[in-house]
Amino acid sequence: MIWHKQWIFGNWKMHGNLADNARLLQQLSTINNNNAHIGIAAPFPYLLQAVDLVKNNSIVIGAEDCSRFADKGAYTGEVSATMLADCGADFVLIGHSERRTYFNENNEILRKKIDNALACNLIPILCVGETLPQRQSGQETAVVAEQLAVLQGLSVNHIAVAYEPVWAIGTGQVANSEQIAAMHAFIYQEILSILGENVTIRTLYGGSVNANNAAEILSIDKVDGALVGGASLKADAFAEIIAHAKTE
Ligand code: 13P
Repeated sequence: MIWHKQWIFGNWKMHGNLADNARLLQQLSTINNNNAHIGIAAPFPYLLQAVDLVKNNSIVIGAEDCSRFADKGAYTGEVSATMLADCGADFVLIGHSERRTYFNENNEILRKKIDNALACNLIPILCVGETLPQRQSGQETAVVAEQLAVLQGLSVNHIAVAYEPVWAIGTGQVANSEQIAAMHAFIYQEILSILGENVTIRTLYGGSVNANNAAEILSIDKVDGALVGGASLKADAFAEIIAHAKTE
């Protein structure tokens, strides 16, 4: 992983098929922006395909989740961090809001996933963010602080977090620059106080990032990249977002 560039990472969620993935990754492989570190979080069955298709360039591939259980065992349906690393993944999303919502993932579960990822040299990207009622009642920083508390006691010198306000995901309603700037500054400050002043941080913004708003979002202080859902499924839109990345 490259820590001094802006990360433009796609999260395919439950989308894709072999033919579409191949076309998309081949188009992405031709993109040339030295300022961007490009990554794709793919569904489990497509990890090997994705790793194979990007192996001759600098795109990194990761998973959208990993098991709370370590290594291997009688856990039907689960996929361990060990298996992801074995397939050539470099990173894994942890605690995406869709997993928190539909699978009741809490800090206890998420900490196990983070520990498992780190034990396999996968970079965990911890996703945090408040719901609309939480923001409307002024609780957004308290909610995000509670989510970041999962990092307490970790011994790492690099950490990646994605701030994804739940109300901005897939809605077309992007957070405004002031909201993003304030939360990213808060996340930096929290991480430095939890993990120490020497930790290297990447804080990505996610939530309705598209070709039209990427330039503004990526120019906000302490926005170290973007985690892109819907727009990462279209090569042209994703390429336009990537074109706005800048070296810091
Ligand atoms: P959208 O870009 O589709 O809003 O999704 C954001 C997201 O959830 C990325 O993880």
